[in-house]
Amino acid sequence: MGFLADALSRVKPSATIAMTQKARELKAQGMDVISLSVGEPDFDTPDHIKEAAIEAIRRGETKYPPVSGINPLREAIVKKFKRENGLDYKVSQTIVGTGGKHVIYNALLATLNPGDEVVIPRPYWVSYPEMVILCGATPVFADTTMEHDFKLQPEDLERVITPKTKWIILNSPSNPSGAAYTRDEMRRITDVLMRHPHVWVLTDDMYEHLTYGDFEFVTPAQVEPGLYERTLTMNGVSKAYAMTGWRIGYAAGPEHLIKAMDFVQGQQTSGASSISQWAAVAALDGTQEHLKRFKAAFQERRDLVVSMLNQTKGLQCPVPEGAFYVYPSCAETIGRKAPSGKTIETDEDFVTELLQAEGVAAVHGSAFGLGPNLRISYATSNKTLEEACHRIQRFCGSLR
Ligand SMILES: Cc1ncc(COP(=O)(O)O)c(C=O)c1O
Repeated sequence: MGFLADALSRVKPSATIAMTQKARELKAQGMDVISLSVGEPDFDTPDHIKEAAIEAIRRGETKYPPVSGINPLREAIVKKFKRENGLDYKVSQTIVGTGGKHVIYNALLATLNPGDEVVIPRPYWVSYPEMVILCGATPVFADTTMEHDFKLQPEDLERVITPKTKWIILNSPSNPSGAAYTRDEMRRITDVLMRHPHVWVLTDDMYEHLTYGDFEFVTPAQVEPGLYERTLTMNGVSKAYAMTGWRIGYAAGPEHLIKAMDFVQGQQTSGASSISQWAAVAALDGTQEHLKRFKAAFQERRDLVVSMLNQTKGLQCPVPEGAFYVYPSCAETIGRKAPSGKTIETDEDFVTELLQAEGVAAVHGSAFGLGPNLRISYATSNKTLEEACHRIQRFCGSLR
């Protein structure tokens, strides 16, 4: 018996962190590396949010906060869900955690038993299956295809639901594919879920505000009120307000679930940073003007990257509706020889050779459960993206 928990041996290390580390090493050796593997906006937190945090420190809001969150933030969350999603929640139905990731983990920790299954559409955000495994339960994958823009089809969901299914985790817009469900597409998924009353819905709406063109964001409990009693609607300030370092996420759902999450949190973190919570109040209650700037920049970058990748030999890139990722297929490059002489057999080979040859760091799709693809984050300047795409084009052109 080793010292470390058995569960750790079942959990994969984060491919995103591994790639960032590899890129860092090459940079340290003097290589000119462009990293397209990051999952955070390159913008700064808007000033009025920073000011609210400074004010909170000055007022002495520096003591332990209530476990589920400070009341002004829980009230701001209630107003947000009403204003933006048409969802009615009471303050007692809300909870604040140390980032969206923590909120998801607590929801799973508070509900999963060994033998329980959690349905996760592929490609998925890397943390979902690993969190399920750490909670002692089993991830069950539902496949999507590029032909359907990486969106789950009702029959593919139906096929994986069993009597043991406890949750399905939905994420629209998606990390890694950027795909987001229209109202009709979401309706087709919620129709299936209405036929399976034992399945709970954990919807990760982290990228809600990052959608482009006239796309209208929807969340499951809004599309199908019949799911309200078994849906945890999770969101956060990390992406929409460029607040990844502040570590504030939140959720709303049935009171008995929120109570159980509060119970877990009470023995675990005692609640999120009081100062960050005051900043999040300013984010949710304050002006949303910055979003226009964020969205305009991201949309321009998405269009630039999609267009350049689609002019690249061997790559095929669908146009995603949201988030700041594209997820092109590199299927046509499989079997070709890279400049190093190595034959590309997998998408992991593709990204490794691309990094070696051209100093561009992307993450292989198989790390997100669906390949051969690569995830490219476009949360960086147009100039950097253009240079990166030129290098990707040169790399693909050099394959024999
Ligand atoms: C889909 C998705 N959910 C949740 C999170 C976690 O957000 P937070 O930084 O608030 O923990 C991320 C962050 O990368 C994400 O991409």
